[in-house]
Amino acid sequence: MTTPLRLGIAGLGTVGTGTVKIVQRMANRLTARAGRPIAISAVSARTRDKNRGVSLSAYAWEDDPVALATRDDVDVFVELMGGSDGPALAATRAALKAGKHVVTANKAMLAIHGQELAELAEAQGVTIRFEAAVAGGIPVIKALGESLAANQVTRVLGVMNGTCNYILTRMESAGLTYDEVFAEADALGYLEADPTLDVGGIDAGHKLALLAALAFGTQVDFKGIEIEGIEQVSIEDIEQAADMGFRIKLLGVAQMTGRGLEQRMSPCLVPATSPLGQLEGATNMVVLEGDAVRRIVLSGPGAGEGPTASAVMGDVMDLARGLRLPVFGQPATTLLPAASAVAAGAAPFYLRMRLQDKPGALAKIAAVLGDEGISIDRMRQREHTEPSATVLIVTHKATRAAIDAAIGGMRGTGVLVDEPVAIRIEDV
Ligand code: NDP
Ligand code: HSE
Repeated sequence: MTTPLRLGIAGLGTVGTGTVKIVQRMANRLTARAGRPIAISAVSARTRDKNRGVSLSAYAWEDDPVALATRDDVDVFVELMGGSDGPALAATRAALKAGKHVVTANKAMLAIHGQELAELAEAQGVTIRFEAAVAGGIPVIKALGESLAANQVTRVLGVMNGTCNYILTRMESAGLTYDEVFAEADALGYLEADPTLDVGGIDAGHKLALLAALAFGTQVDFKGIEIEGIEQVSIEDIEQAADMGFRIKLLGVAQMTGRGLEQRMSPCLVPATSPLGQLEGATNMVVLEGDAVRRIVLSGPGAGEGPTASAVMGDVMDLARGLRLPVFGQPATTLLPAASAVAAGAAPFYLRMRLQDKPGALAKIAAVLGDEGISIDRMRQREHTEPSATVLIVTHKATRAAIDAAIGGMRGTGVLVDEPVAIRIEDV
């Protein structure tokens, strides 16, 4: 019998138990496909006597994930605890130092410590695989790092947080406010323990940072991402945007520009008829654009026990088959530090404002936009009965700085009833 690949799994929550279930349920098929058995030697979690709905009696138990990571009978340390630092980082470092490969779903850890860990792995002659860390079950790391390895990637964009997409699409379909749907998402167990990771765009930002490193051969640069969450998206904007043929998505975009690497995660308008505009519920979608391939759209479940464990086990199978790739697609020491493009390039913007309904109000707004060099593409004023009117404007391409300057100018006109809203329209 060929030598088994022996796993040590730290973290037996949603993803960890899902992974154990696949190893148990698929044992024969995994052996056939990998050419060797996949065995679990030992597991670790915080609480030993918790019922996890899966039998763990055949595996050794370690209270300490570092001890698990360095066991002699572990070839691959599977880190499924989460958290950017703490035990996940300590155990991952220990595993690499002990010459073990690492498979992880932990985007937070890699977004902050990815470069250091990749260098450590390569110095030790081992690797780190992280398919599950970005977009759950969607094989986007494999697509970008392997299938598209011969492309000059021009842009990576997508919806990478299922919870936010659920909230935004549910607000639109049910006509509910952000607070109402947030409470629903909480009750359904969709939110991370710290919900600001989801709705603040941080979780999706972690994922974008990993994709950008792979796509552009740069060091992971989470701090270089301009991040804005969905907390301020109102049902009014969702409805008005829909009326103008758009949907609002928490969209991540990474592209290499003449000014450096542009990385942003923010609510954007996309055409309602585009694949991203059609994306419903907690599904993720990633669009990859390259000079040779042109454009690939991948979509599927971005979270959950089965999809995420599927990605973890895909990585384990690659290791079992002997595939050893550099963590971020090329040797870590050749990855360039990312020069950050400090502000995103120009784009059309959606503006919503409430104006006093009096002669010359609209002319004053148009004049302010003109003063900032912003040209109006479309404009709409809704039928109304109150003494104020909601006006929607879609601009031609403008920078965020020009839009902000125009909003500043609008405040001085005396015709605004409240603060205008400006949302970028992304070319997807
Ligand atoms: P859970 O919260 O469900 O599980 C975390 C597990 O880690 C638990 O078993 C917990 O132990 C264990 N753990 C936590 N701290 C320690 C510690 N100090 N020592 C030992 N064990 C510890 O998390 P998930 O399974 O949802 O997520 C795991 C990872 O996968 C995270 O990095 C997450 O971001 C990522 N991920 C998750 C997805 C999902 O759909 N859930 C999707 C994509 C990625 P105990 O059970 O005893 O409390
Ligand atoms: N909180 C994440 C999401 C889980 O909603 O997409 C998967 O990373």
